[in-house]
Amino acid sequence: MLLAIPNVLSPEQLAEGRKILESAEWIDGRATAGHQGARVKDNQQLPVDSPVARQVGAMILKALSTNPLFMSAALPLHILPPMFNRYSGGQTFGTHVDGSIRTVPGTNHRLRTDLSCTLFFNNPEDYDGGELIIEDTYGSKSVKLPAGQMILYPSTSLHQVTPVTRGTRLCSFFWLQSMIRDGGQRSMLFDIDVAIQRLGAEQPTHPSVVQLTGVYHNLLRQWAEM
Ligand code: NI
Repeated sequence: MLLAIPNVLSPEQLAEGRKILESAEWIDGRATAGHQGARVKDNQQLPVDSPVARQVGAMILKALSTNPLFMSAALPLHILPPMFNRYSGGQTFGTHVDGSIRTVPGTNHRLRTDLSCTLFFNNPEDYDGGELIIEDTYGSKSVKLPAGQMILYPSTSLHQVTPVTRGTRLCSFFWLQSMIRDGGQRSMLFDIDVAIQRLGAEQPTHPSVVQLTGVYHNLLRQWAEM
């Protein structure tokens, strides 16, 4: 499932985040790439232990923790600290797949990457190129979202970022382990939740609302891993 989450950050949070990020020390993005990734990766990143990355990352995680669409679609168990990258002057990241297991920096805690997240810090008209191309089951999708929006996509998919030929593309990216490992099960739970919310809004006293809510939680109880 590919899902765009609107309004993850407010315009004020974006402006604040951009200002702090611009003041940071950026490094060659190949520092954190695996063997396959290093060959096709050409961008800049903030070091994982950068205080700026931690500060803006905390703002993002706090915002997501109260975002109902994100919580319902991702059912997150653990979220890796947000990282930051930028592309300009023709920089690009060729087709690659994200590593399946990542260690939380500074700990021995490893987590499985079920979902990848890219949060856009500037608007599509601020740069040319820089589309995130994701190979999905039904073909490839090109993603370039307004500032403050985030795309959630399966970490199993091959993806790339096309060359940025004008301006700068600034994003946060990170991974999460979901309570629901299987993407098909996670999708079904999301569909049921969306349907319950809609029914509840239109027919709040309809007995099916509580019955379906029961089904939702019983499926979640059967499938969740913690
Ligand atoms: Ni990637």
